[in-house]
This record gives sequence, structure tokens and C-alpha cells, in this order.
Amino acid sequence: MRSCKLPSGAAIPVLGLGTWRMGESPRRRAEELDSLKYGLDLGYPLIDTAEMYGDGSAEEIVGEAIAGRSGRPFIVSKVYPHNASRAGTIAACERSLKRMRIERIDLYLLHWRGGARIEETFDAFLRLREAGKIGDFGVSNFDLSDMEDACRLDKGFNASNQVLYCLSRRGPEFDLLPWMRKRSIPLMAYSPLDQGALLRKAALKSLAQGIGCTPAQLALAWLLAQPGVVTIPKSASRERVKENLGALELSLSPQILAELDRAFPPPKGKQPLEML
Ligand SMILES: NC(=O)c1ccc[n+]([C@@H]2O[C@H](COP(=O)([O-])OP(=O)(O)OC[C@H]3O[C@@H](n4cnc5c(N)ncnc54)[C@H](OP(=O)(O)O)[C@@H]3O)[C@@H](O)[C@H]2O)c1
Repeated sequence: MRSCKLPSGAAIPVLGLGTWRMGESPRRRAEELDSLKYGLDLGYPLIDTAEMYGDGSAEEIVGEAIAGRSGRPFIVSKVYPHNASRAGTIAACERSLKRMRIERIDLYLLHWRGGARIEETFDAFLRLREAGKIGDFGVSNFDLSDMEDACRLDKGFNASNQVLYCLSRRGPEFDLLPWMRKRSIPLMAYSPLDQGALLRKAALKSLAQGIGCTPAQLALAWLLAQPGVVTIPKSASRERVKENLGALELSLSPQILAELDRAFPPPKGKQPLEML
């Protein structure tokens, strides 16, 4: 699968499996675990999770899904801002590693800004990296001014920023995405289907039908067509996990891209970063 480069030289695959809302209900656990295992069997090379999801239960499901596999996927997890002090980040990372039963998180992110000072969090990330417990570190839900602050700290941060970005929420294209591209910082687009809401848009449905794919595949292929963008749709259903992988096969013509621009116009000015 195509990938982007992280500062460590590691490659981050452009498509992965999201896990938000997993682990919240014991009734749905088996189905969630099955969808992750099936996704890995199909060749998804990345899983995105966080200590927040299901209060740790999503990480446990991830641990179960990857246990005993020969090649394990690239793992992304996140620390809560209220745990992101120097000592708190290290303790949170240890807990995440234990829940997933792994030695190392490939990319560890600050979930959003607002807890400890970012220099403290980054100091902890650097210590975790030195100890081999994480590969790269990054942030999430950082708008341009937050990114500028983070880079100004000179703590070696330039790995990734995970933000809300999809056809119906194109704000980052105005300033954040070009700024990140210039610095070769991959953007991880979360909620690429706008949590399902995007798939109900008539324009997307009709354009997808016109080129013989599903609305989800078109929404994901549009993100994947953009350099420096990684995305992580979530599904707890086998059929949808397979369907979403099909987005990789789609190559979008300039005409369809122009029609998507007409239906979902790019931003004309600065829009504050949206967050879910
Ligand atoms: N950093 C952050 O602050 C942040 C915030 C939000 C999300 N995230 C990450 O990004 C991942 C993805 O975002 P998300 O979960 O919010 O939303 P999403 O991936 O845009 O949408 C997920 C929803 O769409 C449905 N779905 C998935 N594939 C589908 C398909 N082919 N056809 C129809 N429906 C489909 C899923 O239902 P089923 O499960 O029933 O298939 C689920 O309800 C998360 O899981 C999480 O890992 C990060």
C-alpha cells in the first residue's frame, strides 16, 4: 500500500482502520474484534486507536486482534490531554502498551491540546522514544497556530497531525494542509465519512453511481488522491471494511474531481479547525 514518510524514516500507510466507539458495549465486542481481524486479513496495514476509546477497551480489542499475527500492523494511539504531563504521558503510554500487549506504539499522539504544556508532553514523548516504547510522536486536533507553537518548541516534532477532514469539512485545505505539506508532515484525516452523514448526500451518491463505486469508496478515494493525506475509516462490519478498502483501486478523473468540487466546494477563507 502507498505510504507517507515520517521523520524517523518509518513509512505510515495511507489507509487504516479506525476504532472510535469500539469497546463501549460488551454486546458488540465480538463483531468489533471480528471486523478488525478481518481487516488485517484483507491487508489493512494500520490501526488507529486511543486510550479514550471505550475507556481503554478499544485498545484491548486491538491487542486481541493483533495477537499472534506474524506481521503486526502500524499502531497509532493517543494520550488524553489530562494525562499528558511529563510523568502522566509515560504512565499512560505504559498502560496502552499493556492493554494492546505490544512493546511499541509506532505513532503516539497528543489527542488534543489543553492539558499540560506541550513542552512537557513532548519531553515525555522524547523519553518514550529513547526507551523504544514509541516510534514517532505527533498531535491531533491542532490548528495552524497550534502547529506553529509545536514546531517552535524545537523538540524534534514534525511527525503527524490527526484532524477532522473529509469532503463535507474541507476547512484544513485553506491553510493547515498546505502548511503541513510544505514541511512533509502527513495529515491523518479522521471521520473521513463524517461518521456516516456524508454518505447520505445526494450529490455524492449520484457521482458514485456514475462511476460504478459506492459513496464511501468515492469519499475515501478523494482523500487518498491527495498527497500527504492518510485516512482511517471505522467500521465494525466485514462488508464495509472490505468495501472501504476498495477505495484504493479507484483513480479519480479530473472531471469527477471537478464535480466533487462543485458539490463540496473548497474553503474560500480561513475556517477554524472543526473537532468531534
Ligand atoms: N483524533 C481524534 O480526535 C479523532 C476523532 C474522531 C475519530 N478519530 C479516529 O478516526 C476514525 C474514523 O472516524 P469516525 O469513526 O469518527 O468516523 P467515520 O470513519 O467517518 O465513520 C464511521 C461510521 O461510518 C459507518 N461506515 C463505515 N464504513 C461505511 C460504509 N462503507 N458504508 C456505510 N457506512 C459506513 C460506520 O458504521 P459501522 O461501524 O456500523 O460500519 C460508522 O458509523 C475513528 O474511528 C478514530 O479512530 C479520531
